[in-house]
Amino acid sequence: MLEKLKDIRMRAREEIRSCTDIEQLNDKRVKYLGKKGKLTQVLRGMGDLPADQRPVIGRMANEIRTAVEEELNSANERIQKNMQKIRLEKERIDVTMPGKSMPNGGLHPLSIVLEEIQNVFIGLGFKIAEGPEVEHDFYNFEALNIPKDHPARDTQDTFYITDNFLLRTQTSPVQIRVMKEQKPPIKIISPGRVYRSDSVDATHSPMFHQIEGLVVDKGVTMGDLKGVLGLFAKELYGSDIKMRFRPHHFPFTEPSAEMDISCVVCKGKGCKACGNSGWLEILGAGMVHPRVLEICDINPDHYSGFAFGMGLDRITTQKYGIDDLRLLFENDVRFLEQF
Ligand code: PHE
Repeated sequence: MLEKLKDIRMRAREEIRSCTDIEQLNDKRVKYLGKKGKLTQVLRGMGDLPADQRPVIGRMANEIRTAVEEELNSANERIQKNMQKIRLEKERIDVTMPGKSMPNGGLHPLSIVLEEIQNVFIGLGFKIAEGPEVEHDFYNFEALNIPKDHPARDTQDTFYITDNFLLRTQTSPVQIRVMKEQKPPIKIISPGRVYRSDSVDATHSPMFHQIEGLVVDKGVTMGDLKGVLGLFAKELYGSDIKMRFRPHHFPFTEPSAEMDISCVVCKGKGCKACGNSGWLEILGAGMVHPRVLEICDINPDHYSGFAFGMGLDRITTQKYGIDDLRLLFENDVRFLEQF
């Protein structure tokens, strides 16, 4: 019996030490200490022993049980540590590896310049207004003092959708929408897409962008118009920019003017960009026509206003020296990446 116990102990130790995972270890636990395990069997057979041997064998068996348990526990610890090591090895991060570079997105040049222009006007207390691109004839023409037979309609090459609906040819209809909705003081700019039936070339596109401006209040004068637009030009182009106003005609402003700035390329000396004139036209403007105020239920005896409209695409191409408008709309990443 004693021999049998010693044998069990030896084998158990050997087998447990050679276990490499928890599952094997559990098998050994069952094999030696389980209900039908080897040690349990021996203890069960104790009844057949002579009485004087029982205590000795009993004590021995208990010692062995404890020893096997300790053996199992330390094997368990060893295996756990080992598994942890393997796991950490697998999860190891090599911080010296070069990172994956993410391609950087960027703003479209039109967005960059639009944001710049908006910031100037927001700084002057203007709010941003928006209007629909599919517009009613009333807002795009009629209310802007351009009746059905007016020659100004011919110059606009309108895309008509029905007799009364069209793609807006200018952002000026937003003036009407704002004046019909709000009462003075009004101080807004309205950027957006406009459409004219032009064929595409280096300087023409059937879709382009305008930024409209409108100020209506008591006692607004042409001096305010010049002051605001002059400040705007200096903010956008730098303080040494020169500007001039030329008389012009728009049906919805009276008087009307076009504003030129000294050429940003040649600083006014004359070059290809400015057609040797030294000047670049950047916007149309004028005092809101009294008839337009009336149509919007604003009394022209009490209120006056000025309006302006500029071409964002032209300002952007001038600013960056882009010689072909089409580049702005083709979305060639090699071009866009340069801004
Ligand atoms: N809407 C005019 C155009 O497209 C520009 C303009 C706007 C002129 C506001 C005067 C006042 O040419």
